Amino acid sequence: MIDKDKTVMIAQSLLRKYNVPVPRYTSYPTVPLWENNLNIKKWAELVKKAYGDFGEKEGISLYIHLPYCENLCTYCGCNKRITKNHSVELPYVQAVLNEWQLYLALLPSQPKLVSIHLGGGTPTFFSPEVLTDLITTIRSSTEVLPQAEFSFEGHPNNTTQAHLEALHSVGFRRVSYGVQDFDEKVQKTIHRIQPFAKVKEATDNARKAGYGSINFDLIYGLPHQNLQTIEHTFHQVNDLKPDRIAFYSYAHVPSAFPAQKSFENFLPQEEEKRSLYEKGKELLLEMGYNEIGMDHFSLPDDPLFIAKKQKLLHRNFMGYTTSPSRMLMGLGNSSISDIGAAYSQNQKDIDDYKAQIERKQFAVNKGHVLTQEDEVHKKLILDIICHDKAEWDLDFFLKLSTVAVVQLEEMAQDGLLNYDPFGIRLSTTGKAFVRNICAVFDQRMQRQKRSNFVFSKTV
Ligand SMILES: C[S@@+](CC[C@H](N)C(=O)[O-])C[C@H]1O[C@@H](n2cnc3c(N)ncnc32)[C@H](O)[C@@H]1O
Ligand code: SF4
Repeated sequence: MIDKDKTVMIAQSLLRKYNVPVPRYTSYPTVPLWENNLNIKKWAELVKKAYGDFGEKEGISLYIHLPYCENLCTYCGCNKRITKNHSVELPYVQAVLNEWQLYLALLPSQPKLVSIHLGGGTPTFFSPEVLTDLITTIRSSTEVLPQAEFSFEGHPNNTTQAHLEALHSVGFRRVSYGVQDFDEKVQKTIHRIQPFAKVKEATDNARKAGYGSINFDLIYGLPHQNLQTIEHTFHQVNDLKPDRIAFYSYAHVPSAFPAQKSFENFLPQEEEKRSLYEKGKELLLEMGYNEIGMDHFSLPDDPLFIAKKQKLLHRNFMGYTTSPSRMLMGLGNSSISDIGAAYSQNQKDIDDYKAQIERKQFAVNKGHVLTQEDEVHKKLILDIICHDKAEWDLDFFLKLSTVAVVQLEEMAQDGLLNYDPFGIRLSTTGKAFVRNICAVFDQRMQRQKRSNFVFSKTV
């Protein structure tokens, strides 16, 4: 018989022990630890090389950042600019297209396109016409592969039927709605009033327009959330049955996002916050969703879950993906590119970004060229995040630092994982602490004082 109280106590003590600030590992090395050993000339050389090595054959993925929003959601940790002035749309899109032209001029052939993702900010801040022009121009300069996937982030409050139809007509079949929470008090506190009827309308409209895949972003740890509000939210989510769900931990970094200070006194604290996640996860599993990995769930027939079962899952800056493309190019302010051997991030500020593009220069602001050691750790961390296990050879194991071995041993004792000279495998409990386990192999962070960097806590 399982002693439930004992299990809960163990879980709570693990929680206290491992609830420390660690990165989400959407990249390795993580952005704050990039060396900035990259200038624009070097970036252009590396892009050309990656394209010749694999991008030309495999195709490229595009992430396009569309940074404007009409209203500020006070919890938001994204790169955005708040404005109601829509005259910003055209000049911004023109800058993105000019940036794309710089890449086209660099590449020796017409690129094949594997995917486009429009992120933000709020892509649906832009009018359907402007978005259509943007995508049509990009499409006409590439060979769109038959299996290409186009997706966008839509705010339920301003994703109109016209947006859905226009984007569908240029190839979009996936939409991700920011839902966050359905509770009225929570919504009021985070300054994001979005009634169930509005989300239902946006979801129904997307299905009618032919979108085969709908994702909802939900967050746990928001002000005033409790077990009842989470239950209520998930029942409403179940009525709409999105194909995928991202259930994010609220990242509280008020030093970077001061509006988050407005509700600091109403935030659920550590154990309470974790119980919100556990409740949400329990409900999702009951509702027929499967866990993909860190914060992500999908229905069983979703390609993401099928890829997980077939060990074909990948992860990049935008989260889990089925796309094997190794060349991800980011366009727009603050966008990140990952070309395997190097990362770069564009100027964060919209005006700096536009000014650099006007000078006909790539808008790269910072970057990182990976060392061989980085490449080994990047693969290891990705394997752990995507497959809950990783293999290594004896030589790697013998060269692990003493700190890393001590941490692994402690985590093994805590029941989070098993390891031996040939690899590591996470236990069911360990999956909840995957960020901490990845951190063991984050050589760059281990070498620095953790306290120098601002990451949100694991829970
Ligand atoms: C760019 S937004 C989505 C598109 C659109 N702007 C919207 O809000 O509907 C991307 C997602 O990031 C997540 N997010 C934003 N700020 C966050 C924070 N502080 N902690 C955790 N997740 C956050 C939200 O779930 C949000 O849906
Ligand atoms: S959550 Fe979305 S809509 Fe709200 S401010 Fe952030 S990016 Fe804009």
